Amino acid sequence: MLHFSLSAHGQALAYLVSAVLFIFALKSLTHPASARRGNFYGMIGMVIAVAATLLGQEVTSYGFIIAGVAGGAVIGTILAMRIQMAAMPQLVAALHSFVGLAAVLVAIGTFIITAHPDAVMMGELSAGIVIGAITFTGSVIAFGKLQGLISGSPVKFTGQHALNAAMALAVIGFAVHFAMTGSVLSLSLMTLIAFALGVTLIIPIGGADMPVVISMLNSYSGWAAAATGFTLHNNLLIIVGALVGFSGAILSYIMCKGMNRSIINVVFGGFGSGDEADTGAGALAAQRGVKSASVEDVVYWMEDAAKVIIIPGYGMAAAQAQHALKELMELLVARGVDVKFAIHPVAGRMPGHMNVLLAEADIPYERVLEMDEINSEFPTADVALVVGANDVVNPAAEEDKSSPIYGMPILQAGKARQVYFLKRSMRPGYSGVDNLLFYKDNTSLVFGDAKDTIEGMASALKGSGH
Ligand code: TAP
Repeated sequence: MLHFSLSAHGQALAYLVSAVLFIFALKSLTHPASARRGNFYGMIGMVIAVAATLLGQEVTSYGFIIAGVAGGAVIGTILAMRIQMAAMPQLVAALHSFVGLAAVLVAIGTFIITAHPDAVMMGELSAGIVIGAITFTGSVIAFGKLQGLISGSPVKFTGQHALNAAMALAVIGFAVHFAMTGSVLSLSLMTLIAFALGVTLIIPIGGADMPVVISMLNSYSGWAAAATGFTLHNNLLIIVGALVGFSGAILSYIMCKGMNRSIINVVFGGFGSGDEADTGAGALAAQRGVKSASVEDVVYWMEDAAKVIIIPGYGMAAAQAQHALKELMELLVARGVDVKFAIHPVAGRMPGHMNVLLAEADIPYERVLEMDEINSEFPTADVALVVGANDVVNPAAEEDKSSPIYGMPILQAGKARQVYFLKRSMRPGYSGVDNLLFYKDNTSLVFGDAKDTIEGMASALKGSGH
């Protein structure tokens, strides 16, 4: 078979081009307007990287590679076409688990085929195996929690932290022994305990914190890839691993800041059940006299408003209400209403969740404002329309020192003249904390599925005809 192979220099140059394209991809992904271009840069970078690797001199036959790529392509295409937007976090968790497992298998494979591995190499292999194994089982547990296959509640028991610490020390001990002696027994024990550690580290974390955990595991998968890069002497893998490692870590930090929590509190805090249970807020609501409003009431207030601020949250995603919201926006704008969208950094269930959905519905970016930009505008808004959001507007974060969400920055919707909540019931949001804004004088709740309610508002607006 004719075999064209790339020289080492040619490969290094191709890798450099890929690395630059990946950096441009990350840069472009920071804004919705350039995100599509960013994806394109990433795809081109990946095609160059894969082609340069396959054409490298060390690749001598393509049989297994073609079979692997074909199988992966089929599974990947089916998954990507079937996945619901709201299930994206668990897909990401599943993909991270593959990166972790690949790092473990590559490191073990390299150990098997290397005749005389030295201590430095075995140290690198240990790093790849340990980080990869923790990433693999940790991601599988995160996937299970988000998919509802296992309970989202934190699993806690006495001595948990001591057990984790003992396991971590054992892993380090076996890794050092393996690097010094090449003992296969130490390698095996290190690998098995690292797999177990991935489970015990993730089970105590509540479902509400899973997006932060996924972003952390994303970071780990980057470091596992970088360690594999050292093992394989592949510079591109080291660069890409470091990019993923750091961007995952920065994203985890941004999410923690958005929830006013520390990463330590997320990892050890056991916050949030992940099951949106009714904690009795309904009965409480009846006692405390929450006002409810009809679609017509809301439309009456909105059609003559000068400014309406819409706050989307997880419920908008669950109801897939973004297209209906776009129509409502157009109808209001046509009547001269200034319509803006306020985005909280942790609204929804994953970073950028709301931005992605609003962009999908072609809502212009200039109407979509981040929390810091919009908060000063609420006092001048006639209506704050809260569409399936809850925690991100809860004044308990500012007013109730005993609240678990105290200190979390919020969108100050309560400062608008009128606040309308579109939701189905009195159930609290993901944090399980009752929302103090429900009980304020200027708040009314419009019960029902967000999409149905907004479609009802749009037709009432069309019907009101002035
Ligand atoms: P939540 O506080 O979770 O509230 C969502 C609300 O949507 C619920 O109260 C629910 O009320 C309503 N809802 C659900 N389905 C609906 C439907 N079909 N129609 C109408 N309403 C519906 O959402 P949020 O304000 O977006 O806050 C996000 C939460 O997730 C925060 O606690 C945040 O810390 C957490 N979190 C987010 C992230 C990221 S990165 N986004 C990461 C970690 C944690 P009903 O059941 O009564 O309808």
